[in-house]
Amino acid sequence: MKTILLYFACISLFCTTLLSQEKQVISIETNNQAMIFTATQNDRIIFQYWGDKLNDATSFINKKVKGQPDTNNDFATQLYPAYGGRYYLNPALKLTHDDGVLTTELVYAGHTTKALDANRTETVIELKDKIYPVFVDIRFVAYKKENVITQSATIHHEGKNTLTVENFASSYIPLHAQSYYLTHFNGTWAHEMQMEEEELTHGTKVIESKKGTRATQAENPSFLLSLNTPANEDSGEVYAGSLAWSGNYKLSFEIDETGRLGIVSGMNPFASTFYLKAGETIEAPEMVLTYSSTGVGNISRNYHDWARQYAMVHGDQAHPIILNSWEGAYFSFDEKILTDMMDNAAKFGVEMFVLDDGWFGNKYPRNGDNAGLGDWQTNKKKLPRGIPYLADYAVDKGLKFGIWIEPEMVNPDSELAKKHPEWIVKSGSREILTMRNQWLLDLSNPKVQDFVFTTFNDVVSMSPNISYVKWDANKHVDNVGSEYLPKDKQTHFWYEYVKGLYNVYERIRAKYPEIQIQLCSSGGGRVEFGALKYHDEFWASDNTNALDRIFIQYGTNLFFPAIATASHVSTSPNHQTGMMIPLKFRFDVAMSGRLGMELQPKDIDGDEYEFAAEAIKNYKRIRPIVQFGDLYRLVSPYDKNGWASHMYVSKDKGEAVYFAYSLKYHGRTTYLETKLKGLDANKKYKVTELNTKNGHSSFYGNGQTFTGDYLMKAGINLNIGNPFDSTVLLLTEE
Ligand code: DGJ
Repeated sequence: MKTILLYFACISLFCTTLLSQEKQVISIETNNQAMIFTATQNDRIIFQYWGDKLNDATSFINKKVKGQPDTNNDFATQLYPAYGGRYYLNPALKLTHDDGVLTTELVYAGHTTKALDANRTETVIELKDKIYPVFVDIRFVAYKKENVITQSATIHHEGKNTLTVENFASSYIPLHAQSYYLTHFNGTWAHEMQMEEEELTHGTKVIESKKGTRATQAENPSFLLSLNTPANEDSGEVYAGSLAWSGNYKLSFEIDETGRLGIVSGMNPFASTFYLKAGETIEAPEMVLTYSSTGVGNISRNYHDWARQYAMVHGDQAHPIILNSWEGAYFSFDEKILTDMMDNAAKFGVEMFVLDDGWFGNKYPRNGDNAGLGDWQTNKKKLPRGIPYLADYAVDKGLKFGIWIEPEMVNPDSELAKKHPEWIVKSGSREILTMRNQWLLDLSNPKVQDFVFTTFNDVVSMSPNISYVKWDANKHVDNVGSEYLPKDKQTHFWYEYVKGLYNVYERIRAKYPEIQIQLCSSGGGRVEFGALKYHDEFWASDNTNALDRIFIQYGTNLFFPAIATASHVSTSPNHQTGMMIPLKFRFDVAMSGRLGMELQPKDIDGDEYEFAAEAIKNYKRIRPIVQFGDLYRLVSPYDKNGWASHMYVSKDKGEAVYFAYSLKYHGRTTYLETKLKGLDANKKYKVTELNTKNGHSSFYGNGQTFTGDYLMKAGINLNIGNPFDSTVLLLTEE
């Protein structure tokens, strides 16, 4: 840490340059945005501005707030407010120093800026306590093209005795406006990412998880914050954040007495006090931030571009069409059932077969969710020729092969649970609660980390033809505790579990950079950028009901790109709902993400078979546009008018694909009218309807050519007024 050396150097040499009172302007800039701080040596750093890039960022005066002394104002607009002095709001940092002092006063100690490459600039702002040898580095990385800024914090302790870290956030954003509208995402199992918007009032609104794992199922650590008006798609100032962390998180939004909003985001400090010995450092996860002065659409496109490039694996490669065995076979299969599924999948044009749960366990066979988890050996009765036979069979059929694991978990009825009771998360001698009949392994323990890595390694080593793994995690942390961590460090569990998980992911990715991995946690329990970084995609929800999926995918795709959103066509009605939904509607919804199927393919026959095979062919045609294009939302399913519509436009604007869905009966004469977005006004596009029902088009201009200008200004009318009518249009430049 450069700061530490300078700190001591300055003390001994009376370093005057470093302690000069000159005001510094620190500007974190992308192509279109700037986040600006001013700093004076040995004084607080002031957050001055975050918004569209300025022509001149050098002249900043601290904004005054009526009725408040300047010093109060300076406290509330600090870069990283610590509890102490006149800071009365939710702090980014709360420490108890090694002599018991409860307050901290962070001052500017220097900063560095360097280009990581042509697109990324790293700025580290160094803070130190005025009295104690505690050093805080705030690290920003600005991604120019994607207009994303990540922020994280590192705390380093050089004192003699233990420093108590009670709270350390990743970022603090102070904003000032007349009103603030917060959009956040609640949910539960099979109902993830349900969007909710509310006007904030004085006091604190908190979005958090204390569940440790499956942490994003009930809420998501992502938010939109719109100034002065509810968020609009194409206008208004919107700030957005998404925490890259696979454990407990807390986002707090506090409006103070002056009307200023302070947003503190980071790991959840709940039951997580951290003790740092001399020389130790702790690092907060990255908060991924972006801003738009032209509405939410740009926010999503920024996140999607950034995710494909920096926050997921294989974001530049087309993702395959999958048949997953779960809803088609559940636990009840043998070799023949699976090979028949593969035969039928291949006929449809599916590109990969994934064998889900139920393939392992001998002494405790995995014939249901009550046994076998932890015993990762192939069940000899169900699959006598083993996984290699199935993987080879798939490859012979022209399919890739993937397999399911849930390596962080164990059933009490398993050989593993009997052999290693000390690996199970538990609160002393209290009952170890089960969820879905299973317990959680203690990933804070390096031996458990080795076991989880070895499980992955052994499973994929069963056959060179395994090219995909679905990694599941179906339990929360409850009755927390670790037999590995010492008794005075039990509160480190939440942090160490996630670090242990990341350590395993790192080892896997170092050895298997090519393998595709799906991130699943009872569906969307791990939809966040911290885990996605190591994965190719996530399973957004166990709910494959196409109507519900429109809402789930709407929320999910506000932040996460379509290429990472596995979206499968399942049987209707299915385990989620008794509702009958036509196959076309199911395909039209699934095709706006990473298309797959999750059913018994032999059950789709006759006309439905013809339709499905054609739809899969069509998906291959539109896949590059969906997976790599720009998303434009046209009609929100939340608008309550009973329609939803969005489109993807290729980066060169030469192609686009348009989706529209009718969610209810609109009356015989009602049409959906939409104005398209994102096209090139000067280009001409031929519009072709895909997935037509018995050759009937819902678009009167099917096959005709229009200018981009016409499509965006005059728009199109669609005859989709019945519940579950839907339209997919392909636009190609003429
Ligand atoms: C939960 C997952 O979300 C499902 O897709 C499936 O893999 C089951 N677990 C298997 O047990």
